[in-house]
Amino acid sequence: MRKKNFAFAVAVLIVFCAQPLIAQELTPEEQLGKLIFFDQSLSIRNNQSCAACHAPNVGWTGPIPGVNKAGAVYFGSVRTRFGNRKPPASAYAGDSPVLYQEADRTWVGGMFWDGRATGWTLGDPLAEQAQGPFLNPLEQALPAANYVVDRVCASKYSDLFKSVCGDDICDDVPAAYECIARSIAAYERSSEVSQFGSKYDAYLAGQATLTEQEALGLELFEGKAMCSACHISTGERPLFTDFTYDNLGVPRNPQNPFYFEPEWNPDGLLWVDAGLGGFLKSAGYPPEVYDLEWGKQKVPTLRNVDKRPGRGFVKAYGHNGYFKSLKTIVNFYNTRDVKPVCLDPFTTEKDAMAQGCWPVSEVAANVNTDELGDLGLTPEEEDAIVAFMTTLSDGFIP
Ligand code: HEC
Ligand code: HEC
Repeated sequence: MRKKNFAFAVAVLIVFCAQPLIAQELTPEEQLGKLIFFDQSLSIRNNQSCAACHAPNVGWTGPIPGVNKAGAVYFGSVRTRFGNRKPPASAYAGDSPVLYQEADRTWVGGMFWDGRATGWTLGDPLAEQAQGPFLNPLEQALPAANYVVDRVCASKYSDLFKSVCGDDICDDVPAAYECIARSIAAYERSSEVSQFGSKYDAYLAGQATLTEQEALGLELFEGKAMCSACHISTGERPLFTDFTYDNLGVPRNPQNPFYFEPEWNPDGLLWVDAGLGGFLKSAGYPPEVYDLEWGKQKVPTLRNVDKRPGRGFVKAYGHNGYFKSLKTIVNFYNTRDVKPVCLDPFTTEKDAMAQGCWPVSEVAANVNTDELGDLGLTPEEEDAIVAFMTTLSDGFIP
């Protein structure tokens, strides 16, 4: 009998352990994308992979709490160089359409906070995005595409690369670089990265119940607080974004290291992040097009927005990481137009909370005053919305 029990326990254990492996089995293309995504040798100093700024245990965004607490902008392979924005999640981005303008003059789709990985070249914004970081001097900083291709062709997984992308792929740099990007995109779309495995997914499938507070948060999210107007929460597999752009009036982040990088930012403290408008201007659109988009940033997914390795671990929110907690960003939505304006436009979130003010918007143009700024939420209602957002973390076990 004891033996039988033991055998049964072993059988259960095997089935139990095999489950996630089966669920997460990757196709060869996805597997290749994964190896590339985590390969530190694809950077100038052999010290930085995509995961350096998009780590799974924090919901595929920046994994260093000390960075998140301050500038929230990450250093590149060359450690003294910093970008200018907070890394958004690299998960759940696979459904963003090729950037286009709707008849009502609304821009939809593309990748990055400002939409500049449009998808116009490869027909897939996610793959197009993946061609950026390797060559960005502030990120992985390799000099040209052939450096990336050479390193992949000399890697331990070069056989897999050839079997996925073609036997002669190493002789054709543009085709190889495209195949690298498409493999990364395939991995990012896979069930390992975009899991749809949160408590909220289980709730939608009738396999979990929300606590009273979470349920109130959901009700507010879709009602009084209007969050779902942009962060769509309904449908079969909601992505919590509508892939549009908005200027919420987020203040400058005084700790953004980009202000102090004269080599990359000659404007210094006068620099402002123009978002989609800045991209459209640089792409050659006329002022009547880009003026309307000045200061607008892409609506990010809220999936995994609270995923963190431990309770005290700080994550940053917003395109420049100004906000350091879900509570304060919800308070901003609620009170942006209620609290007085801080005297100093460069006031950190911590000081603003202490002084009971909000600094002026980083970009004054096109600030959305219809859907946020004075929501009339009580502190308990703010907490409930935060509680609801904690149900969006993958890894939930019903
Ligand atoms: C040094 C940090 C860093 C590294 C390394 C890095 N990223 Fe990013 N990533 C960022 C930042 C910052 C942004 C936002 C930049 C912007 O909007 O201008 C971003 C944006 C993205 C996005 C866009 C998400 C969206 O919803 O718009 C994806 C996808 C992504 N990165 C994937 C990758 C991949 C794939 C790699 C490796 C090839 C990579 N990143 C390497 C920092 C990094
Ligand atoms: C009008 C569209 C819109 C509405 C309504 C809206 N958001 Fe957002 N949300 C955005 C945009 C755009 C950003 C990025 C803004 C930026 O960084 O400048 C954002 C960013 C966020 C972030 C930061 C995510 C990250 O990864 O950095 C959180 C959290 C968030 N919103 C929650 C909410 C909640 C909660 C509500 C309701 C109280 C709400 N949003 C209402 C458009 C919207």
